Amino acid sequence: MSIALVILAAGKGTRMNSDLPKVLHPIAQAPMLAHAMRAGAALEPERTLIVAGHGAEAVTQTVADIDETAEVVLQEEQLGTAHAVDQARAALEGFDGDIVVMFGDTPFLSADTLERMAEARKGADLVILGFEAADPGRYGRLVMQGDSLEKIVEFKDATEAERAITFCNSGLMAAKASTLFDLIAKIGNANASEEYYLTDAVALAREEALKVTAVACDEAETLGINSRADLAAADAVFQQRARAELLDLGVTLMAPETVYLAFDTYIGRDTVIEPNVVFGPGVTVESGAQIRAFSHLEGCHISRGALVGPYARLRPGAELAEGVKIGNFVEVKNAELAEGVKVNHLSYIGDASVGAGANIGAGTITCNYDGVMKHKTEIGAGAFIGSDTMLVAPVKVGNEAMTATGAVITKNIEDGALAIARTPQENKPGRARKLFDMLRAKKAKRDKGEG
Ligand code: UD1
Ligand code: CA
Repeated sequence: MSIALVILAAGKGTRMNSDLPKVLHPIAQAPMLAHAMRAGAALEPERTLIVAGHGAEAVTQTVADIDETAEVVLQEEQLGTAHAVDQARAALEGFDGDIVVMFGDTPFLSADTLERMAEARKGADLVILGFEAADPGRYGRLVMQGDSLEKIVEFKDATEAERAITFCNSGLMAAKASTLFDLIAKIGNANASEEYYLTDAVALAREEALKVTAVACDEAETLGINSRADLAAADAVFQQRARAELLDLGVTLMAPETVYLAFDTYIGRDTVIEPNVVFGPGVTVESGAQIRAFSHLEGCHISRGALVGPYARLRPGAELAEGVKIGNFVEVKNAELAEGVKVNHLSYIGDASVGAGANIGAGTITCNYDGVMKHKTEIGAGAFIGSDTMLVAPVKVGNEAMTATGAVITKNIEDGALAIARTPQENKPGRARKLFDMLRAKKAKRDKGEG
């Protein structure tokens, strides 16, 4: 059965109190919409349509970044969830598979739940995903009759008896496209909110003697985000799950609750992560690496057996080969470090390539930016960069070349050469003592004047 996902994301999200459309607020550094789309991808949909309204331009851009095959349809005015789904009608003209409706602000649906809905569709025309709510609040209520779902009543329109029901609507719905669009065409807005409720499709389907069932899932999966507090809680849920997965995969987290992960963090087994490490998007760490405390990583790749930190910063494009050592207060950006390279202290390596086994002394800086353009530094294999070297890019240091401590390197260095680029030292006998005497006398005079 081919599936078209229709993800509703046109609402304003008033309670977020934000200029950013609600579905673009990040959880684990990916927009919540990306999480919803990723959850939906478990169904291997043939089409994915996002219904956008508030902040449609930004939503469209984000959707393109997440999945270039996804389509965005516009809902100019937010007249309700049925009206929202109806905006996909033209785009799905002639599509004869199933539609699964999801909400963009419900990011944690499991693949298992979605598959159970698809399975239930084999025996029913319309399938709704429900959950037992600890606090049913303002959710729509599922009115069951045996195995059959009779109708969904929105909280605002519910009687006291209906409000007492705790089996609630998650918002997910699955049906054949033609069935769903036929039902939607009959939905009106004569209700407390004067909105076109998608949930009315259930009672209309029953009137036509169609089979309607509800599948139940855990409430944690239907967690909807409406406020910043919900967002923080959702991030916490994500972190907890992601940490648990890593532990299961054989990664040591010395203090799991202090490690912040991104939606796509990949860490191989037998890697050790010390406390207070932050992973931004796009980090992959191979087996057996060690990330020491207080390091911040994003968009980088760390190979087997590498050692990073404490207090290291790896920025996008940092590529560390096997056994590379990055020490404290070192920043690496857009640079390839070949096997066994060591940058142990207080350095900046940006827009660079460093050959195997090279040793970068403390305080080395690649001066990659001239105020207008970025330039590259190439350091050969086995090179030794003396402490406090400024490498003014573009510049090349040959294989097994050396720079003397404190050098300002502006010219290429050939293989095996030593570059010295600093003012020669001059010692003045006795001058330090004279200077001390002079300064002390000056201070004594001043102290006396004050006293
Ligand atoms: C909806 C359900 C309710 C369910 C609850 C679960 C309806 C009528 N009610 O209520 O039964 O318990 O979700 O969270 O469906 N949206 C649009 N365009 C619109 C209106 C909404 O795209 O015109 C989108 C919103 O951006 C959101 C989703 O649809 O992603 C749900 O809309 P919302 O207004 O939050 O519905 P609820 O009142 O929460
Ligand atoms: Ca809602």
